[in-house]
Amino acid sequence: MIELSLIGIGTGNPRHITGQAVDAMNAADLILIPLKGADKSDLAGLRRQICAAHLTNPATKVIDFALPVRDASNPSYRKGVDDWHDAIAETWLSEITAHVPGLEGRVALLVWGDPSLYDSTLRIAERLKSRLPLTTKVIPGITAIQALCAAHAIPLNDIGAPVVITTGRQLRDHGWPAGTETVVAMLDGECSFQSLPPDGLTIFWGACVAMPEEVLIRGPVAEVTDEILQARADLRARHGWVMDIYLLRRNVPAA
Ligand SMILES: C[S@@+](CC[C@H](N)C(=O)[O-])C[C@H]1O[C@@H](n2cnc3c(N)ncnc32)[C@H](O)[C@@H]1O
Repeated sequence: MIELSLIGIGTGNPRHITGQAVDAMNAADLILIPLKGADKSDLAGLRRQICAAHLTNPATKVIDFALPVRDASNPSYRKGVDDWHDAIAETWLSEITAHVPGLEGRVALLVWGDPSLYDSTLRIAERLKSRLPLTTKVIPGITAIQALCAAHAIPLNDIGAPVVITTGRQLRDHGWPAGTETVVAMLDGECSFQSLPPDGLTIFWGACVAMPEEVLIRGPVAEVTDEILQARADLRARHGWVMDIYLLRRNVPAA
C-alpha cells in the first residue's frame, strides 16, 4: 500500500511550512519534486530549499521528475486537461515504482498553497487509485488568498457577507458574479478586472505574495489599473513569470 501525502507548502515563503507539514515530510520514504521547465525552475528550487531546511530523516529520498506538459493545441480544453492529468498520474506511477520497493511506503508531494484550492493534485491522485493500492492524506497549507489578505491586512469577507472565488476567465466571460460584493480572482494572466465597470470598485492586488519579489497595490480600480499593469509587466520581464491574485470589493465606503 502506498500512502500519498499531499503537503500544502504555502505560497513561496519557506516560513509558511507548518509543523504538520514538517512531520509529514520526515515521515515520507520518497518526496517527488516536479520540474516544470526552465522558466519556473526557481519554484522547484523553493521546494528543494524547503526539503533542505526541514528534512531531518536521512532515509527520505528526494527525487526530481519532469512534469508532463499540457497539449495546449488540443481543441477541447477539457480533453487536453484530462490527457495531461493521465500523463502526470503515469509519471508518478513510474517514479513510485522505481523508488519505493514492493510498492509499500509513504510518498509525499509538496503542493503550492493548499491542495484544495485551484489545484489538481487530488484529482490526479484519484486517477492513480485505479493503478495501485493507495490512500491519500492532505496536509493543509496557507493559500494565496490568505497570503494576499494578510499582506494587505484586510479581512476576506465583509461582516456576515459571502465571497466568490473565481478565475480571470470567468470574470471576463461572465462579469461580476451575482450575490456578492467581494470577489477574489486567481489564475488571471490578463488583469481581467479591466473588463468590469470600474465605478465603486476597489482592488487589493498582489504579485509574488509572500515571496522576496512581492508587490502590493491597492486602491480604486479607476486609479490604480495602470500601476498594476506596469508592475505586472516589470515582474514578468525580470523573472520570466509572475503569479498574481486580487480581491475586488464593490461600494467600499470612503476611509
Ligand atoms: C494553480 S493556482 C494554485 C493555488 C494554490 N493551491 C493556493 O492554495 O493558493 C495558482 C494561482 O494561485 C495564485 N497564487 C499562488 N501563489 C501566489 C503568490 N505567491 N502570489 C500571488 N498569487 C499567487 C495565482 O492567482 C496563481 O495564478
